[in-house]
Amino acid sequence: MRYTRQSTTSQPALPLLMRCSCGLLFGRHMPETASDLVFDFASAKTLAADDALWQLYDTAFPSTEREPRNVILETLRRGDGVVVRARQNSNTVGLAVAHMLRRPPVLFVVYLAVDPELRSRHIGATLFEKLWEEGRRRYSDEGLKVEGMVWEVDIPERATSEHGFKQSRRRIDFFERVGGRLLPAPYFQPPVDGITSVPMHLMFRPAPGRSLSGVATHSALVRALYFEKYHAANGIGEAVLQHLLNKIQGQDVV
Ligand SMILES: CC(C)(COP(=O)(O)OP(=O)(O)OC[C@H]1O[C@@H](n2cnc3c(N)ncnc32)[C@H](O)[C@@H]1OP(=O)(O)O)[C@@H](O)C(=O)NCCC(=O)NCCS
Repeated sequence: MRYTRQSTTSQPALPLLMRCSCGLLFGRHMPETASDLVFDFASAKTLAADDALWQLYDTAFPSTEREPRNVILETLRRGDGVVVRARQNSNTVGLAVAHMLRRPPVLFVVYLAVDPELRSRHIGATLFEKLWEEGRRRYSDEGLKVEGMVWEVDIPERATSEHGFKQSRRRIDFFERVGGRLLPAPYFQPPVDGITSVPMHLMFRPAPGRSLSGVATHSALVRALYFEKYHAANGIGEAVLQHLLNKIQGQDVV
């Protein structure tokens, strides 16, 4: 099913938002962040020409989890996407990409990555918060009250090495520190590379004042992820998605 959406033109790149400062994140001391770091919201045109951003994208994610660049650009052009960049000396060193689901209104964090040389300096957490603030603003412009953020993470136990397991665990630790919680129900990421569907966990962070249980049911959330994002934006066939949905519901009725 394709949902009709209001068509909007590319969002203009906004001027500098803030300079990042080091500090205390949820009670933990974070190392000093580069003082010349700035964050901005990129238009599709700006993004398309940002070689450093695509290089980071290509190296940060395995090919089975990387969608074609055009899916990200088209999502932005349609007004369904939010992209935040972290820039240092006019060079992109971090990115956060989200898709705005409408039914329910939940911001789907599709990609988050920081240059390996600059990790563990609070840039990832800042990108995550910038994405949330901008997403919430755009939902509000549409008269919608966003219910929270959702994203996919690897299942540590599926890692094929001790190193892979630890990295996957660290990533979940990171997302828990920014307020996310693992959803207990099973989930599969649809085949974004056209071939492989990957068992994953979903994580969720409710909007302030909302609780996990008061938000969209798991099945409504997965349906939105599958049909609003993976079908409408990635072009994955409805039959493939329905099959995965049945598989999930067969494993755990939610
Ligand atoms: C996850 C990621 C965005 C965090 O960015 P960051 O700028 O390092 O984040 P912060 O400085 O705010 O927080 C640091 C925490 O991130 C996590 N982290 C940092 N580097 C990591 C890595 N290579 N792998 C997994 N998690 C990592 C750790 O939990 C770390 O805390 P620790 O140093 O106490 O272990 C970054 O590690 C990254 O780009 N990873 C590769 C892409 C990815 O896995 N994205 C997430 C799924 S879309």
